[in-house]
Amino acid sequence: METKDLGLTYFKRFRMELNFDQSRLQVSSIPPGFEMIPFSSDLIGEHASAKHESFKNEMDVNLFPCLGRRDGCLRLMREITSRANFVPEATWLCRYREPVSKLPLAIGTIQGLEIDGWGSIQNIGISPTHRGHGLGSLLIEHAARGFKSVGLRRMHLEVTTDNTAAIRLYERIGFKRAEVIYKATEVAGA
Ligand SMILES: CC(C)(COP(=O)(O)OP(=O)(O)OC[C@H]1O[C@@H](n2cnc3c(N)ncnc32)[C@H](O)[C@@H]1OP(=O)(O)O)[C@@H](O)C(=O)NCCC(=O)NCCS
Repeated sequence: METKDLGLTYFKRFRMELNFDQSRLQVSSIPPGFEMIPFSSDLIGEHASAKHESFKNEMDVNLFPCLGRRDGCLRLMREITSRANFVPEATWLCRYREPVSKLPLAIGTIQGLEIDGWGSIQNIGISPTHRGHGLGSLLIEHAARGFKSVGLRRMHLEVTTDNTAAIRLYERIGFKRAEVIYKATEVAGA
Protein backbone atom coordinates (compact mmCIF):
# COMPACT_ATOMS: atom_id res chain seq x y z
CA MET A 1 0.00 0.00 0.00
CA GLU A 2 1.32 3.47 -0.90
CA THR A 3 0.49 6.90 0.53
CA LYS A 4 1.87 10.14 -0.92
CA ASP A 5 2.93 13.33 0.87
CA LEU A 6 5.10 16.29 -0.30
CA GLY A 7 6.65 14.29 -3.17
CA LEU A 8 7.46 11.39 -0.89
CA THR A 9 5.72 8.05 -1.26
CA TYR A 10 5.35 5.86 1.81
CA PHE A 11 5.38 2.10 1.39
CA LYS A 12 3.73 0.01 4.07
CA ARG A 13 5.88 -2.96 5.07
CA PHE A 14 5.66 -5.75 7.61
CA ARG A 15 8.56 -6.78 9.77
CA MET A 16 8.17 -10.54 10.01
CA GLU A 17 9.94 -12.66 12.60
CA LEU A 18 10.70 -16.35 13.11
CA ASN A 19 12.08 -17.89 16.28
CA PHE A 20 14.09 -21.05 15.50
CA ASP A 21 13.08 -22.71 18.82
CA GLN A 22 9.40 -22.43 17.93
CA SER A 23 9.57 -23.40 14.27
CA ARG A 24 9.66 -26.68 12.45
CA LEU A 25 12.13 -25.49 9.84
CA GLN A 26 13.88 -28.25 7.94
CA VAL A 27 15.96 -28.32 4.78
CA SER A 28 13.89 -29.76 1.92
CA SER A 29 15.37 -31.66 -0.97
CA ILE A 30 16.59 -29.67 -3.97
CA PRO A 31 14.60 -30.21 -7.19
CA PRO A 32 16.56 -31.83 -10.05
CA GLY A 33 18.58 -29.40 -12.17
CA PHE A 34 19.08 -26.88 -9.34
CA GLU A 35 22.02 -26.34 -6.98
CA MET A 36 22.40 -24.35 -3.76
CA ILE A 37 25.84 -22.76 -3.58
CA PRO A 38 27.29 -21.32 -0.34
CA PHE A 39 28.68 -17.80 -0.45
CA SER A 40 32.14 -16.96 -1.69
CA SER A 41 33.31 -13.55 -2.87
CA ASP A 42 33.86 -14.69 -6.47
CA LEU A 43 30.07 -15.26 -6.70
CA ILE A 44 29.09 -11.61 -6.10
CA GLY A 45 28.46 -11.04 -9.84
CA GLU A 46 26.17 -14.10 -10.03
CA HIS A 47 24.26 -13.00 -6.93
CA ALA A 48 23.80 -9.59 -8.55
CA SER A 49 22.48 -11.16 -11.79
CA ALA A 50 20.04 -13.37 -9.87
CA LYS A 51 18.90 -10.37 -7.81
CA HIS A 52 18.37 -8.26 -10.93
CA GLU A 53 16.43 -11.00 -12.77
CA SER A 54 14.27 -11.59 -9.68
CA PHE A 55 13.42 -7.99 -8.86
CA LYS A 56 13.57 -5.97 -12.10
CA ASN A 57 9.82 -6.22 -12.80
CA GLU A 58 8.62 -6.32 -9.18
CA MET A 59 6.97 -3.78 -6.90
CA ASP A 60 10.03 -3.40 -4.65
CA VAL A 61 11.83 -1.54 -7.47
CA ASN A 62 9.63 1.48 -6.61
CA LEU A 63 11.05 1.46 -3.11
CA PHE A 64 14.60 0.37 -3.94
CA PRO A 65 15.31 1.59 -7.51
CA CYS A 66 18.79 0.00 -7.48
CA LEU A 67 17.08 -3.42 -7.70
CA GLY A 68 15.86 -2.52 -11.18
CA ARG A 69 19.40 -2.11 -12.58
CA ARG A 70 22.13 -4.70 -13.06
CA ASP A 71 24.83 -2.26 -11.86
CA GLY A 72 22.63 -1.24 -8.93
CA CYS A 73 22.33 -4.87 -7.85
CA LEU A 74 26.10 -5.31 -8.13
CA ARG A 75 26.67 -2.21 -5.98
CA LEU A 76 24.15 -3.46 -3.44
CA MET A 77 25.79 -6.93 -3.29
CA ARG A 78 29.22 -5.32 -2.76
CA GLU A 79 27.78 -3.09 -0.04
CA ILE A 80 26.03 -5.96 1.81
CA THR A 81 28.99 -8.35 1.62
CA SER A 82 31.51 -5.75 2.83
CA ARG A 83 29.59 -4.93 6.01
CA ALA A 84 31.10 -6.01 9.34
CA ASN A 85 27.82 -7.75 10.21
CA PHE A 86 27.58 -9.73 6.94
CA VAL A 87 26.81 -13.42 7.57
CA PRO A 88 28.26 -15.44 4.66
CA GLU A 89 26.86 -18.68 6.17
CA ALA A 90 23.32 -17.33 5.59
CA THR A 91 24.02 -16.16 2.03
CA TRP A 92 23.20 -18.60 -0.78
CA LEU A 93 23.05 -18.66 -4.54
CA CYS A 94 20.65 -20.88 -6.48
CA ARG A 95 21.81 -22.08 -9.90
CA TYR A 96 19.94 -23.89 -12.61
CA ARG A 97 21.76 -26.12 -15.09
CA GLU A 98 20.08 -26.12 -18.47
CA PRO A 99 19.65 -29.87 -19.30
CA VAL A 100 21.22 -29.84 -22.77
CA SER A 101 24.04 -27.28 -22.55
CA LYS A 102 24.65 -27.90 -18.81
CA LEU A 103 25.52 -24.21 -18.56
CA PRO A 104 24.94 -22.88 -15.01
CA LEU A 105 22.55 -19.96 -14.68
CA ALA A 106 22.21 -17.91 -11.48
CA ILE A 107 18.48 -17.80 -10.76
CA GLY A 108 18.11 -17.16 -7.03
CA THR A 109 19.79 -15.37 -4.15
CA ILE A 110 19.41 -14.65 -0.45
CA GLN A 111 21.76 -12.68 1.79
CA GLY A 112 22.09 -12.54 5.58
CA LEU A 113 23.21 -9.88 8.05
CA GLU A 114 23.31 -9.98 11.85
CA ILE A 115 21.43 -7.03 13.35
CA ASP A 116 20.97 -6.69 17.13
CA GLY A 117 21.15 -10.45 17.72
CA TRP A 118 18.79 -11.27 14.86
CA GLY A 119 19.53 -12.98 11.58
CA SER A 120 18.32 -10.41 9.08
CA ILE A 121 17.35 -11.61 5.62
CA GLN A 122 18.11 -9.08 2.93
CA ASN A 123 16.82 -9.53 -0.60
CA ILE A 124 15.45 -12.96 -1.39
CA GLY A 125 14.59 -13.51 -5.03
CA ILE A 126 13.94 -16.30 -7.52
CA SER A 127 13.79 -15.41 -11.21
CA PRO A 128 10.19 -15.49 -12.54
CA THR A 129 10.52 -18.58 -14.74
CA HIS A 130 11.66 -20.75 -11.80
CA ARG A 131 9.08 -19.70 -9.17
CA GLY A 132 6.63 -22.03 -7.50
CA HIS A 133 9.03 -25.03 -7.23
CA GLY A 134 9.94 -24.53 -3.57
CA LEU A 135 13.24 -22.75 -4.31
CA GLY A 136 12.35 -19.60 -2.33
CA SER A 137 11.52 -21.79 0.68
CA LEU A 138 14.81 -23.66 0.20
CA LEU A 139 16.80 -20.43 0.20
CA ILE A 140 15.16 -19.41 3.48
CA GLU A 141 15.85 -22.85 4.99
CA HIS A 142 19.52 -22.60 3.97
CA ALA A 143 19.79 -19.07 5.38
CA ALA A 144 18.19 -20.23 8.65
CA ARG A 145 20.68 -23.08 8.94
CA GLY A 146 23.50 -20.56 8.36
CA PHE A 147 22.19 -18.17 11.03
CA LYS A 148 21.90 -21.09 13.48
CA SER A 149 25.46 -22.20 12.71
CA VAL A 150 26.78 -18.83 13.93
CA GLY A 151 24.69 -19.03 17.12
CA LEU A 152 21.64 -16.93 16.20
CA ARG A 153 18.27 -18.08 17.54
CA ARG A 154 15.88 -16.06 15.38
CA MET A 155 15.60 -14.24 12.09
CA HIS A 156 13.53 -11.48 10.55
CA LEU A 157 12.79 -9.82 7.24
CA GLU A 158 10.79 -6.92 5.84
CA VAL A 159 8.19 -7.29 3.12
CA THR A 160 5.92 -4.79 1.35
CA THR A 161 2.36 -5.47 2.52
CA ASP A 162 1.10 -5.70 -1.10
CA ASN A 163 3.50 -8.61 -1.75
CA THR A 164 0.81 -11.07 -0.69
CA ALA A 165 2.33 -14.13 -2.39
CA ALA A 166 5.67 -13.62 -0.59
CA ILE A 167 3.86 -13.03 2.74
CA ARG A 168 1.93 -16.27 2.27
CA LEU A 169 5.21 -18.10 1.68
CA TYR A 170 6.79 -16.58 4.83
CA GLU A 171 3.73 -17.43 6.93
CA ARG A 172 3.71 -20.99 5.64
CA ILE A 173 7.33 -21.31 6.83
CA GLY A 174 6.37 -19.94 10.26
CA PHE A 175 7.18 -16.20 10.15
CA LYS A 176 4.83 -13.98 12.17
CA ARG A 177 3.91 -10.37 11.43
CA ALA A 178 5.58 -8.36 14.21
CA GLU A 179 5.41 -4.70 13.20
CA VAL A 180 4.17 -2.32 10.51
CA ILE A 181 6.84 -0.04 9.08
CA TYR A 182 6.40 2.89 6.69
CA LYS A 183 9.36 3.42 4.37
CA ALA A 184 9.54 6.79 2.59
CA THR A 185 11.00 7.20 -0.85
CA GLU A 186 10.92 9.76 -3.67
CA VAL A 187 9.13 8.16 -6.60
CA ALA A 188 9.65 9.86 -9.99
CA GLY A 189 6.39 11.48 -11.08
CA ALA A 190 4.81 10.98 -7.66
C1 LIG B 1 8.96 -14.55 -3.09
C2 LIG B 1 9.78 -15.49 -3.98
C3 LIG B 1 11.24 -15.47 -3.57
C4 LIG B 1 9.21 -16.91 -3.81
O1 LIG B 1 10.01 -17.80 -4.56
P1 LIG B 1 9.45 -19.23 -5.02
O2 LIG B 1 10.60 -20.03 -5.46
O3 LIG B 1 8.31 -19.08 -5.94
O4 LIG B 1 8.94 -19.77 -3.60
P2 LIG B 1 8.37 -21.21 -3.29
O5 LIG B 1 8.20 -22.00 -4.54
O6 LIG B 1 9.16 -21.77 -2.17
O7 LIG B 1 6.97 -20.84 -2.70
C5 LIG B 1 5.97 -20.56 -3.60
C6 LIG B 1 4.97 -19.79 -2.88
O8 LIG B 1 5.21 -18.47 -3.23
C7 LIG B 1 4.08 -18.01 -3.95
N1 LIG B 1 4.61 -17.21 -5.04
C8 LIG B 1 5.02 -15.96 -4.87
N2 LIG B 1 5.28 -15.40 -6.05
C9 LIG B 1 5.09 -16.35 -6.99
C10 LIG B 1 5.23 -16.37 -8.41
N3 LIG B 1 5.51 -15.27 -9.09
N4 LIG B 1 5.05 -17.55 -9.05
C11 LIG B 1 4.71 -18.66 -8.36
N5 LIG B 1 4.55 -18.67 -7.01
C12 LIG B 1 4.72 -17.52 -6.34
C13 LIG B 1 3.28 -19.21 -4.34
O9 LIG B 1 1.91 -18.84 -4.33
C14 LIG B 1 3.62 -20.20 -3.28
O10 LIG B 1 2.80 -20.05 -2.17
P3 LIG B 1 1.91 -21.23 -1.69
O11 LIG B 1 2.80 -22.43 -1.61
O12 LIG B 1 1.38 -20.80 -0.40
O13 LIG B 1 0.88 -21.32 -2.75
C15 LIG B 1 9.62 -15.11 -5.48
O14 LIG B 1 8.26 -15.04 -5.80
C16 LIG B 1 10.30 -13.80 -5.86
O15 LIG B 1 11.48 -13.75 -6.15
N6 LIG B 1 9.52 -12.69 -5.90
C17 LIG B 1 10.05 -11.40 -6.38
C18 LIG B 1 11.04 -10.80 -5.42
C19 LIG B 1 10.38 -10.55 -4.08
O16 LIG B 1 9.33 -9.93 -3.98
N7 LIG B 1 11.06 -11.04 -3.02
C20 LIG B 1 10.58 -10.90 -1.67
C21 LIG B 1 11.02 -9.62 -1.10
S1 LIG B 1 10.51 -9.49 0.62
